[in-house]
Amino acid sequence: NELIPVMNKLQEAFAPLDIPPVDLPQIAVVGSQSSGKSSVLESLVGYDFLPRGSGICTRRPLILQLLQEDISQDYAEFAHINKKFTSFDEVRRTIEVETDKIAGTNKSVSKEPIILRVHSKSVLNLTLVDLPGLTKVPVGDQPHNISEMISTMVREFIEKPNCIILAVSAANQDIANSDGLQMARMVDPDGSRTVGVLTKLDLMDQGTDARDVLEGKVYPLKHGYIGVVNRSQRDIDTSKPMRDALKAESLFFQKHHAYAAISSEQGIPYLSRRLNNILENHIRLHMPEISKKV
Ligand code: GDP
Ligand code: NA
Ligand code: MG
Repeated sequence: NELIPVMNKLQEAFAPLDIPPVDLPQIAVVGSQSSGKSSVLESLVGYDFLPRGSGICTRRPLILQLLQEDISQDYAEFAHINKKFTSFDEVRRTIEVETDKIAGTNKSVSKEPIILRVHSKSVLNLTLVDLPGLTKVPVGDQPHNISEMISTMVREFIEKPNCIILAVSAANQDIANSDGLQMARMVDPDGSRTVGVLTKLDLMDQGTDARDVLEGKVYPLKHGYIGVVNRSQRDIDTSKPMRDALKAESLFFQKHHAYAAISSEQGIPYLSRRLNNILENHIRLHMPEISKKV
């Protein structure tokens, strides 16, 4: 399918413009800080390369273009740096340096995006946007209005009609308190472009499960929910390979009494396929108006 690579090229061409002539389709994550947004994106790429952890790690929008290519050595490149990165640790360090450069080192945020392209034979063609998480109070020496700064920035991305919203909520918190779902509903009231993602299913209280949420019985979403298990902080600290994490995720769903029956529609690989479908349908639907504007 050639639609998505063409969209990616256009996106790059428009990036330097203050007001892009058209808004190209993309998928953006929204949710509370530390709900697992960056982890979900990393798992979708299959590489460990995003700054993440507890506290505020994502402080500038990251526009991540995945390009499936028949190459033997995967690599990444930033739109503004003329260099091919084959070390994904170096990609992470570069994102951190670029974040500090523009957003400062005081845990503040900037709406100026970083554009990163990943070329790999094992990704699906998707454009993903990582965004800072929604928070309630300033910490450390963050500006007093940090919550508003973040929610304004996130909203600007996800209110565009061509943005597919990945509303990320942690399963170990009550879905009724989900900041991601709250904001998604504000900009997409009928849920036509919102997909629910439920993280941290492995961290739920013993004796509880999220089957009702996943089946849309608590807070229904048109496109439904997909449960995932990302790497824990310990997995990250011990550099658990992404491949092992995906295997563990798959076993988790198959072996769990509450999820076994719905396990084929959970997990990162399923999420990836669903997103690719949704994005392609969206592009096809909006192609006439996009080509007219271009
Ligand atoms: P973000 O702030 O929403 O981008 O969240 P991060 O991706 O930075 O994740 C925050 C923390 O939660 C990290 O320490 C992750 O390892 C951990 N985490 C995220 N998802 C899961 C999950 O599904 N299970 C477990 N056990 N930990 C997770
Ligand atoms: Na975080
Ligand atoms: Mg993050």
